[in-house]
Amino acid sequence: MERIQKVIANSGYTSRRKAEELLIKGKVKVNGIVVKELGTLVDSSDTIEVEGNILKKDLKVYILLNKPRGVVTTTSDDKMRKTVLDLIDAKERIYPIGRLDYDTTGVLILTNDGNLTNGLIHPSNNVDKVYIAKIKGIIKSDDIKKLSKGVIIDGKKTSKAFAKIKKIDKKKNISIVELTIHEGRNHQVKKMFEVCGYEVLKLKREKFAFLDVKSLKPGEYRHLSIKEVKKLYSLINKS
Ligand code: URA
Repeated sequence: MERIQKVIANSGYTSRRKAEELLIKGKVKVNGIVVKELGTLVDSSDTIEVEGNILKKDLKVYILLNKPRGVVTTTSDDKMRKTVLDLIDAKERIYPIGRLDYDTTGVLILTNDGNLTNGLIHPSNNVDKVYIAKIKGIIKSDDIKKLSKGVIIDGKKTSKAFAKIKKIDKKKNISIVELTIHEGRNHQVKKMFEVCGYEVLKLKREKFAFLDVKSLKPGEYRHLSIKEVKKLYSLINKS
């Protein structure tokens, strides 16, 4: 069962706020009866009518985007910068699962499936997010251990991670490090390197769970297959 204003918004008919207004104005019917109460619970067997239009059942959409540099991961931006939604042609009200910074590239999933979103971002489900970071300086093996064990950022220790050196270029004074984390805290990877004394020059999310974007150029996207969606669900329905 879901709250009716959420179901209306998820269908793409209008925003949640407008759906609430329409409810209060008596413009919404459930199974032919006017419903004015915000938060009325409905399920997929109910027929919902808004302003005389029967709502199409909420079609779930799952998109895998290779996020390019220079776009924000929010659905709208007050600085009028390009958002990831500008790159995607979808009628449904999709949103990104988690965030990547403006200058971070790589795997980003967008969907209108709230259950999958909640499951994938919950740290208890331990979904792997693999990042490749180009950092300034030559990373010490002690710092690789530190990153793996967890470091304190924003007053809280990060959970166990997996860090591995991919390349060291002494001439250019840079290191390429692979870091696998299970949380999705704000600017987590950059902050983890920062507390160890390194600046991240470039960051790419190479994998989210088993998904990568090797077949997609930056800015390109594709829909996930049913098999891939089921596999994502299997990661969050373990217990
Ligand atoms: N960690 C960061 O610091 N930035 C990102 O975009 C993703 C993870």
